[in-house]
Amino acid sequence: MKNVKFGLIGCGRISQKHFEAIDEIENAEVISCSDIIEKRAKEAATKYGIKSYYKNYIQMLDKEEIDCVLICTPSGLHPKIGIEAANRKVHVVTEKPMAIDLKSADKLVHACDDNQVELFVVKQNRLNPSIQLLKKAIDKNRFGRLFSANITVRWTRPQSYYDLAKWRGTWEFDGGAFMNQASHYFDLIQWLMGPIESVMAFTNTLDHSIETEDQGAGIIHFRNGALGTAEVSMNTYPKNLEGSITIMGKKGTVKVGGVAVNKIEHWMFEEYDDDDKLIEQSMTNPTNVYGFGHLGFLKNVVEALQGNAIPNTDGRDGRKSLELILAMYESAKSGKKIALPLTY
Ligand SMILES: NC(=O)c1ccc[n+]([C@@H]2O[C@H](COP(=O)([O-])OP(=O)(O)OC[C@H]3O[C@@H](n4cnc5c(N)ncnc54)[C@H](O)[C@@H]3O)[C@@H](O)[C@H]2O)c1
Repeated sequence: MKNVKFGLIGCGRISQKHFEAIDEIENAEVISCSDIIEKRAKEAATKYGIKSYYKNYIQMLDKEEIDCVLICTPSGLHPKIGIEAANRKVHVVTEKPMAIDLKSADKLVHACDDNQVELFVVKQNRLNPSIQLLKKAIDKNRFGRLFSANITVRWTRPQSYYDLAKWRGTWEFDGGAFMNQASHYFDLIQWLMGPIESVMAFTNTLDHSIETEDQGAGIIHFRNGALGTAEVSMNTYPKNLEGSITIMGKKGTVKVGGVAVNKIEHWMFEEYDDDDKLIEQSMTNPTNVYGFGHLGFLKNVVEALQGNAIPNTDGRDGRKSLELILAMYESAKSGKKIALPLTY
């Protein structure tokens, strides 16, 4: 089968996960990479045996025969870069969040539609084995009526993390703890619990010199009547302690915790199911909070581009958690309850 040829844009911290994953996937290769800091692109090309590298990603798109881009730049740049790729009939994989405002997220979705290319938004935590088990339990209706859901992200980020790059902690390119660090958790809560009616939130910047929040608390009213809560902190003493989701229903309670939703802490259901035997083997022990999911995510991308699978998370799916987070921000700013869908 023909190889899927990738071009990666933005050779910073998360790019490593993409390079390593593509290396492991049959029928896939990164043929070019680019970074405005040329040295980074050159170093990545040398390290991963990539044929060419560029400072300017437009030149890369115009000169190389790329099937799909992997966008790993600061978040606020994802839509612009994705649209440039789509307009050249190149498929798009964008890191999360797909954008930091809805208007540009929609422009990206429409550019991909108009050019008949696929748009994939990286949501690798959905693929954690323990989260997959939880999703199956919900789909099988093992919880009965859903009552509540909670996401807790108790992590720590030193000021030096934000000082690594100018885009971090800015409204224009990043967003705060909700938009960046907790975005996978907001994605999970809406993916597992279903459509949202309204939200309320408080956010604050307590211990960092950044524009955006490092602490937040939110409440979600789901359309099915269940209530959700979110507690997010980048100020946890002394280290990353917890990244969890808890779901409670009439006939079941599950908490998937650990530092990054990788460990089942409670798994209780009224009725037995053979999936209960899989709990132990579903737990993973990732070395960092990014987890192992990029490989599974990018395998699905390759299979989808070869016509053998449906995209795991497309642009419309990726947009849902963005809308939820933006609604939280609107509530925190206005002090009001915010109803979904958002308008702009
Ligand atoms: N899926 C996950 O769990 C996960 C984890 C971490 C980061 N991310 C996301 O990945 C993205 C990047 O994060 P990071 O931590 O790797 O950031 P980073 O600052 O380490 O890397 C970003 C890179 O993009 C480059 N860049 C900036 N503008 C560019 C342009 N116009 N063209 C080419 N390159 C450009 C920068 O020079 C830098 O090397 C963010 O959107 C972030 O939210 C996702």
